[in-house]
Amino acid sequence: MRDLFSLAGKTALLTGASTGIGRHLAGVLTEAGARVALGARSVDKLEERVAELSDTGGQTVALPLDVRDPASIKHYFDAAEAAFGPADILVNNAGVEAGVKTYLTLEDSGWDDVLETNLKGLWLMSREFSRRTAAAGRTAGNIINISSILAGRQQKGVFPYAVSKAGVNQATKIMALEGAKLGIRVNALAPGYIYTNVSKALLDSDQADDVRRSIPQRRFGEFRDLDGPLLLLASDASAHMTGSVVVVDGGHSVSSL
Ligand SMILES: NC(=O)c1ccc[n+]([C@@H]2O[C@H](COP(=O)([O-])OP(=O)(O)OC[C@H]3O[C@@H](n4cnc5c(N)ncnc54)[C@H](OP(=O)(O)O)[C@@H]3O)[C@@H](O)[C@H]2O)c1
Repeated sequence: MRDLFSLAGKTALLTGASTGIGRHLAGVLTEAGARVALGARSVDKLEERVAELSDTGGQTVALPLDVRDPASIKHYFDAAEAAFGPADILVNNAGVEAGVKTYLTLEDSGWDDVLETNLKGLWLMSREFSRRTAAAGRTAGNIINISSILAGRQQKGVFPYAVSKAGVNQATKIMALEGAKLGIRVNALAPGYIYTNVSKALLDSDQADDVRRSIPQRRFGEFRDLDGPLLLLASDASAHMTGSVVVVDGGHSVSSL
């Protein structure tokens, strides 16, 4: 029972590991025993995190990654394999938002950046992971997509972001259906609001208190709220889960209309 959530002997790929939630999750995966390949564009920040984690005995590597660029993805997978061998787990965490924009005020570039990072990048990473899993003759793989409660609820000013996350939930379910024959499980973790670059426009605004009061638990999330749910999905404890969206939001998405 003690080892139910252990990741000992596993290799994990983690996108968007330079700041915010991804930076935190790198520590959670490492502490559970995984070797972790931290990917993002800001390699200096990844290297800082790798140095911190190696001080605590973690096996990690910092690798440049732009999830919008197929050549960068290939290079990232090659480098991660060279460091740790084939990956067992992929955490698709990289994500951006476009600032406070409605569908009327959003420019094409904002749409493209958000959809290419949050949705197309997640698909490209998942496809590469799954192809390599199959080509190596492996019979198991585990993909965790970081979604959001905005996948299923509405708010003004987050148009492309919410659309991208709705796509992430549906991508999760279809990849679960199609990946099962390869032994690949695909689940999503959908946090509510946690203070980071992605959420600070709202959480620093005058609306923040009203939003907090609308959450049944009356508080925003903290990084550590994701630890247990992440380990559930990343470990064999969730062996019979695929196609699930695990919501971690203090009840926000079931708040009263
Ligand atoms: N904070 C919240 O309230 C909240 C709630 C629900 C879901 N989420 C989701 O949580 C995930 C992490 O976001 P966060 O809140 O932690 O914000 P964050 O601190 O801004 O982190 C975003 C991460 O994504 C990386 N990234 C962005 N574009 C990338 C690209 N093209 N290629 C590779 N990496 C890229 C960034 O690194 P570089 O810039 O160095 O590349 C950074 O590490 C996102 O998917 C977000 O949608 C956040």
